[in-house]
Amino acid sequence: MGTIVRGSGFVVGEHTVKNEQLARVMDTSDDWIRERSGIEQRYYVKDGTTTSDLGVRAARLAMEQAGVGAGDIDYVVFATMTPDYQFPGCGVLLQSKLGLGNIPTLDIRQQCTGFIYGLQVADALLRAGAAKRLLLVGAEVHSGYMPWKDHGIVFGTSDATVTDEERAFNTKYRDRTVLFGDAGGAVVLERTDEDRGLLAVKLHSDGSYAEKLYVPSGFAWRPYVTEAMVREGRHIPEMDGRQVFRMAVTKMPEIVHEILAANGLSIDDVSLLIAHQANLRINESVQKTLGLPDSRVYNNIQKYGNTTAATIPIAYDECRRAGRVKPGDLVCFVGLGAGFHWGAALLRE
Ligand code: ACO
Repeated sequence: MGTIVRGSGFVVGEHTVKNEQLARVMDTSDDWIRERSGIEQRYYVKDGTTTSDLGVRAARLAMEQAGVGAGDIDYVVFATMTPDYQFPGCGVLLQSKLGLGNIPTLDIRQQCTGFIYGLQVADALLRAGAAKRLLLVGAEVHSGYMPWKDHGIVFGTSDATVTDEERAFNTKYRDRTVLFGDAGGAVVLERTDEDRGLLAVKLHSDGSYAEKLYVPSGFAWRPYVTEAMVREGRHIPEMDGRQVFRMAVTKMPEIVHEILAANGLSIDDVSLLIAHQANLRINESVQKTLGLPDSRVYNNIQKYGNTTAATIPIAYDECRRAGRVKPGDLVCFVGLGAGFHWGAALLRE
């Protein structure tokens, strides 16, 4: 008996944004971005497309592959750090847009570890009988917090240019803004009688690092949004990049060994490692520490940037569609992100 992925799918924002395009609004370069992060391009949504829209599109693809319709889904778990609204969450928006009926919808916010946390929640709901067939979605529209005013300059659809003052403001945030992209991924999960599926999920958190990667505005302020806050850029994530990097390269290999040992397995048993896509250099380091050959690791950050809760379902969907996962394979998911939260999951195909 196990929880299995019946279908998967993903979508990206409508605009491709190459590294060079970002140099139109801030001081950065293709060379710097590639060298430090491995990223070559990312996608941004067109105006009006939201996180729940990307979630809906990805969910449709996952449902199509699973061969199920709206009436077959009885629970939604939606992971995002960039919801359409402060509240309600994206889960209920997706439920309405997909016409899923009055089923329960749950929003979780564990950022880059959102999908792995979501797997544990989904598995528990399915085991408990609270759900029979569940949609787990991870989607993000990061372009909403980019500091520039006119996305048309980046897309090449506007003749406007940035002033020196705007360029200087945008450049203040270049270490983080170059990393992120917009996308959504989804899986349809259900229980099977077969001897396969999700073997284990291991999760950790350490809130003492909360302010190493966070958005310094919210309901702690009165009122919670002021013009001054926007001027000061407090709607844009603050990030201690080096700290995140250090934690990621340490905690990800650690938790992979932890979950394998707890299940009587070793790194030699892992057919494919799919790590959260935050920075190719982080993942290269994790791979090296774990001693895995290229053939047993999958990365796609070059094409999409960091899409937070969407990275793992996107990478997994690409691997499934490309035949990189075969019956009997052991897939290991691992991630670390804002919180800090980190986690790993083992899936027997
Ligand atoms: N373009 C050009 N130059 C830049 C850019 C840029 N986009 N960003 C920073 N620089 C410059 C800096 O100003 C600095 O210049 P200086 O030496 O003249 O002062 C120099 O490059 C080095 O900057 P650092 O920030 O020290 O560069 P670092 O090597 O640490 O790389 C990076 C920065 C890529 C952000 C790295 O620290 C990293 O990837 N950290 C992890 C970040 C991450 O994964 N975040 C997401 C977590 S997921 C989540 O939960 C949302």
